[in-house]
Amino acid sequence: MTYAHTTQVCIIGSGPSGLLLAQLLAQAGIDTIVLDRRDRAYIEGRIRAGVLEQGTITALEEAGVADRLHAEGLLHDGFDLAFDGTRHRIDLAALTGTSVMVYGQTEVTRDLFNARTAGDQSFFFDVEDVVPTDLKTDQPTVRFRKNGEDHVITCDFVAGCDGFRGVSRAAIPSHVLRTFERVYPFGWLGILVEQPPVSHELIYANHTRGFALASMRSETRSRHYIQCDLSDNVADWPDDRFWEEFATRLGPDTAANLQTGPSFEKSIAPLRSFVAEPMRYGNLFLAGDAAHIVPPTGAKGLNLAVADIRLLSRALTAHYQTGNDDYLDSYSETVLRRVWKVERFSWQLSTLMHQFPENTPFEKKMQRAEFDYIASSEAASKAIAENYVGLPLE
Ligand code: APR
Ligand code: PHB
Repeated sequence: MTYAHTTQVCIIGSGPSGLLLAQLLAQAGIDTIVLDRRDRAYIEGRIRAGVLEQGTITALEEAGVADRLHAEGLLHDGFDLAFDGTRHRIDLAALTGTSVMVYGQTEVTRDLFNARTAGDQSFFFDVEDVVPTDLKTDQPTVRFRKNGEDHVITCDFVAGCDGFRGVSRAAIPSHVLRTFERVYPFGWLGILVEQPPVSHELIYANHTRGFALASMRSETRSRHYIQCDLSDNVADWPDDRFWEEFATRLGPDTAANLQTGPSFEKSIAPLRSFVAEPMRYGNLFLAGDAAHIVPPTGAKGLNLAVADIRLLSRALTAHYQTGNDDYLDSYSETVLRRVWKVERFSWQLSTLMHQFPENTPFEKKMQRAEFDYIASSEAASKAIAENYVGLPLE
């Protein structure tokens, strides 16, 4: 037997993109069904970056999920770039009039889950074999299996919010889809530790031994990263080795404030830049990691996903409330224009701050010259700052 469901928007994926879309659409009285192949505990357990742009905060306020972030998030007016131990502060507040908020993506996801309302949204977790079809018709369907039983959802629109390895992007025929990719020749080894931050702001450091990032989750909890080889395993990096390497890369002056301790989370992530075009196929709309990936330098992944969702929820709301499809028709083009600018920034900051195995002494001199230029030029610092706090939505 097959269970049949009907909804207005079927959302595939219950990460930050899918959850935020469900929340914003529910507020507009639009009915959604959300599908995820994992369960809530697994989704909430994923540790990702932790810097929110003002536009992201606005979206979370509009979704009614910003109380805890305003109570617990840390406002940061600047951050440091460091090169071989020399630090240069990017004064976000002075250069842009804006700041960013340090608040973990894990917490954003938890707040979104806690805000789910009964009625306008229904969720199916632990689903298998999700297949979107009939996307070019005005009645797309999404089939899936759960607990060995078949389900079919008939809807008006499918929102592909199922991340980089999801099925939505794969449902677009290869002669329509173009992809652009750069895989970086190193990874980030990250740890969480119950120790106060090294400094009250983030420090992104380029050292001859590789990149390091001193970040935080609160006044008592730090999140640190170092560039590592792609072939490394976490077992290669016992805490003592991590701390020694991290301190070396930060340089002695900064490392003097470093408080070490046992890590309670340790993982390695690859770095990738990726864009898929277009982000619409018939009545399927892609958003977030399903359509694009940025390397974590600059913490743009979640912010980019939230910007997509703001534009997609506006477009779907206009469709249902006024019958105007202009925003739906321009969605892919509008989003991609911004996506490419954010890809450029994430790539530029990654290129500046890491040691690339293939770099010749010339490229290393170029990195140093770029850092010296940023440190000596307000215009160059401002270019970094306005990207870091977030570009306008369109
Ligand atoms: N069927 C159903 N659900 C799926 C499928 C599938 N075939 N494939 C993946 N999913 C689910 C995943 O289990 C995950 O919960 O889709 C969700 C996608 O979530 P994310 O990967 O977090 O992507 P997104 O919501 O776009 O989040 C963007 O989070 O991953 C970070 O760097 C990213 O910060 C960015 C932000
Ligand atoms: C983090 O705190 O996890 C973090 C912060 C800034 C980044 C990336 C990750 O650029």
